[in-house]
Amino acid sequence: MVQSIIGKTRLQMLVGDITNQDTEAIVNAANPTLMGGGGVDGAIHRAGGPQILKECKEIRKKQGKCPPGEAVITSGGELIADYVIHTVGPIWHGGNSNEEEILADAYRNSLTLALKNKIKSVAFPSISTGAYRFPIERAARIALGTIRDFIRANQGLNEVRMVLYSQQDFEIYLSAWEDIITNNRDV
Ligand code: APR
Repeated sequence: MVQSIIGKTRLQMLVGDITNQDTEAIVNAANPTLMGGGGVDGAIHRAGGPQILKECKEIRKKQGKCPPGEAVITSGGELIADYVIHTVGPIWHGGNSNEEEILADAYRNSLTLALKNKIKSVAFPSISTGAYRFPIERAARIALGTIRDFIRANQGLNEVRMVLYSQQDFEIYLSAWEDIITNNRDV
């Protein structure tokens, strides 16, 4: 685990399973249908039970699909977390389709939605680096840089946690962390 304090917010990064996190909210790497899928999405719906899908269906009825870069919120069902923030990352198409901006939007809009709901702690998985094939080295810099900039600009979060599913992913994020968080470099 690595940790850094930015203003009044603790930023943590660790190897773990997003479904076990004890933060007030966890973030789901969803798709625009909000109807579930594989990877993190499948794991969250399995662990959280049917209540989450029920609320996703209500959101679909009200506002339709969730475009890439945007985020919606449901309860956490049977999870430890009280809330799930569902965001949709970009599908990697080679890098010329606004993928980087959309990925940054996904992190930013998730954190904005957390603050709007007075949520004090949030855990993220590595959005878009699985089925959506975003190169993880680049995604790590965007994730950590966007979270850092958001924390600097906004008060109210006690903790933001980045949860990597494998030691290998953690090592890649760690090298981005050393550059972006420790050395305070731009994304
Ligand atoms: N906890 C934390 N991280 C996890 C977990 C878990 N339980 N399960 C998988 N991961 C990691 C993967 O190893 C990967 O690094 O999450 C990262 C993101 O992978 P995906 O879940 O495939 O998410 P993404 O690339 O954003 O693709 C989204 O996948 O199933 C769908 O409905 C989802 O269509 C959407 C697409």
